[in-house]
Amino acid sequence: MGKNNKYYTPKFHLMPPQGWLNDPNGLCQLDGKYHIFFQYSPDDPHGADKYWGHYETKNFIDYNYTGIFLSPDNRADKDGVYSGSAFVEDGIMYIYYTGNVKLDGDYDYIYNGREGNTILVTTRDGLTSTKKEWLLKPSDYPKNLSNHVRDPKVFKENDSYYMVLGARTNDDKGCVMLYKSIDKQTWSFDHFIQKDDFGFMWECPDLFRLNGNQYLSLSPQGLASEDYRFQNIYQSGYFISEGELLTSGDCLGEFNEWDYGFDFYAPQTFEDEKGRRILIGWMGVPDVEYDHDPTIDEGWQHMLTLPRKLESDSKTKRIRQMPIEEINALRQNTIFDEGNLSEKTSYTLHDTYELLLSEIDSEKFSIIFDDGFELSYNVDTNVMTFEFTNKALGCGRTIRRLHFHSDETLNNLRIFSDTCCLEIYINDGAYVFTTKIFRSLDAARKIKIDGKCGLATAYELGEFHFVGIN
Ligand code: FRU
Repeated sequence: MGKNNKYYTPKFHLMPPQGWLNDPNGLCQLDGKYHIFFQYSPDDPHGADKYWGHYETKNFIDYNYTGIFLSPDNRADKDGVYSGSAFVEDGIMYIYYTGNVKLDGDYDYIYNGREGNTILVTTRDGLTSTKKEWLLKPSDYPKNLSNHVRDPKVFKENDSYYMVLGARTNDDKGCVMLYKSIDKQTWSFDHFIQKDDFGFMWECPDLFRLNGNQYLSLSPQGLASEDYRFQNIYQSGYFISEGELLTSGDCLGEFNEWDYGFDFYAPQTFEDEKGRRILIGWMGVPDVEYDHDPTIDEGWQHMLTLPRKLESDSKTKRIRQMPIEEINALRQNTIFDEGNLSEKTSYTLHDTYELLLSEIDSEKFSIIFDDGFELSYNVDTNVMTFEFTNKALGCGRTIRRLHFHSDETLNNLRIFSDTCCLEIYINDGAYVFTTKIFRSLDAARKIKIDGKCGLATAYELGEFHFVGIN
């Protein structure tokens, strides 16, 4: 990508032009153009002061990096322009974000010493913006909250505007606050949305409807790890609403994780002009226990996931995710296209590829990638395991397990392999697994498949094109 041209530079995932990237922010489409803002620390691949960077694209293949959109240059955001969203109306993006402020002094910065201000700017192009308007300050928030309040997501229903904000109470419970407005500027607190025993902090809330169902997506911190769930330090997933969250705060139903991989957090969704609900996640997790990723030595760290179209299952209401169809334009040569795999089969692939396996029908099924990362499924336990058998490839990532819902078994896989990451979509996107993986790029990519499968196809993939990075 552009000037980076480093060993691990991804071919079809967005990375920071330099330094560190975290959450996708302000995702929206305006007059045909998609805007992808992101949390950005250009000067430090370990993350430092947070800015907003900005990519734009019309087709998710050709991108323009236009530079830094927001900087921490104001009394209300001096220690970081934190995450937020874009609400589009009448040709204008209304950008709501959190201004992080750390007061000088001896503070814990959880219960005292920090401000999470809610700030608004508007823009037509993601290049220039209006003056920062300080909409909500700490004294405007309900009294029982800690100083951790952030990540406004704004949307409209009927004639009202709504904002969800993530927070941590003074007694360490994660929650969402729902605010209402009639003019997008004056906001009044309406109610809390909560769930007992569900972590100490809820980041990046996102409330949306899909096929008539209502969902609350969030990134909770503080969930105890279980054998088949919550295996990362922090999680992200969605609650299926069992009531109406715009008027009631205690109707959160089943929670499902968005992604079961080592590197996924803080996703955001938006509805595009075609009416698609699209999700992009941060391919990274804060405060992880992994070792040093080698991209840090190249001066950068983290990527965004592919944009994923969301669809909800009419029976279970669970959400499926699949890369948006624009990504198919990356397909180049067919590497192989075969039917009825039943033996152990080995393939040599291109350095970036997409692999499609369908009609999987095996008691046991496994794929070994590059002699160092293994996906295996066992129908008896209905568990899929993802394991770095060669530790060097994982850089501290070890093993993750996924238990399928009892009403389904493994049927198909769609796998995207980029320079230093894998995105694995399972059963038409009912489950997704995303990880970074640091293979030697000097040797050819190889896979070994063991199990029965009706159809196996692999495509060589092309790459994203960039302008604006010199
Ligand atoms: C999530 C998060 C957000 C915050 C941002 C700061 O990764 O912690 O809650 O706004 O990152 O970069």
